[in-house]
Amino acid sequence: MTQATRGVIAQRQPREDVATPTAKVFAATEAADFRAVLGHFCSGIVIVTAMDGSEPVGMTCQSFSSASLEPPLVMFLPARSSTSYPRIRAAGSFCVNVLDNAQEPISQQFARSGTDKWRGIAWRPGENGAPVLDGALAWMECSLHREYDAGDHVITLGLVERLGAAAAGEPLLYFRGAYGQFSARS
Ligand SMILES: Cc1cc2nc3c(=O)[nH]c(=O)nc-3n(C[C@H](O)[C@H](O)[C@H](O)COP(=O)(O)O)c2cc1C
Repeated sequence: MTQATRGVIAQRQPREDVATPTAKVFAATEAADFRAVLGHFCSGIVIVTAMDGSEPVGMTCQSFSSASLEPPLVMFLPARSSTSYPRIRAAGSFCVNVLDNAQEPISQQFARSGTDKWRGIAWRPGENGAPVLDGALAWMECSLHREYDAGDHVITLGLVERLGAAAAGEPLLYFRGAYGQFSARS
């Protein structure tokens, strides 16, 4: 996300009739308003990776969540416009890499469609073959469980078969179109 885009989100004006000093109300039908308001949900960032033959593929995603404990399921929502997702789907297995605070450049690199996303990236194959990124805060090796329609996105559920976490580290966060870091209160 560019500085310019960040500015647009920060400067959007609320509807005059319903705005209060403490709240801004936007129209759900406007894509920019939808993005601006939904951007207030702070999240971590993951990179979903897979192997297309001998070629690694991956994409940056904010839309990640745990979904079920029994069976162990996680989910993410790739856009229908993604060129990497059809290759991840075809692989049938993937790895969800939760990014560490130090990995903001990697998040940006894997968000650029049509570029060499893997330049300078260190990784090792997980047991299902999907790339586990060096320095990831946590990772989940999954098999593709189910897909559901979600408009211009797809809800993709992964069955977690193996997972791990780094002994130390802090998460990379994303809020209102900007990256940030976690600060514990106590
Ligand atoms: C912080 C951030 C979060 C993103 N989250 C998602 C997401 O949840 N789903 C998605 O499809 N794209 C998301 N994107 C955009 C994709 O990373 C990008 O469109 C994708 O890498 C396009 O490449 P591809 O054509 O190789 O799939 C996000 C981008 C950024 C910078």
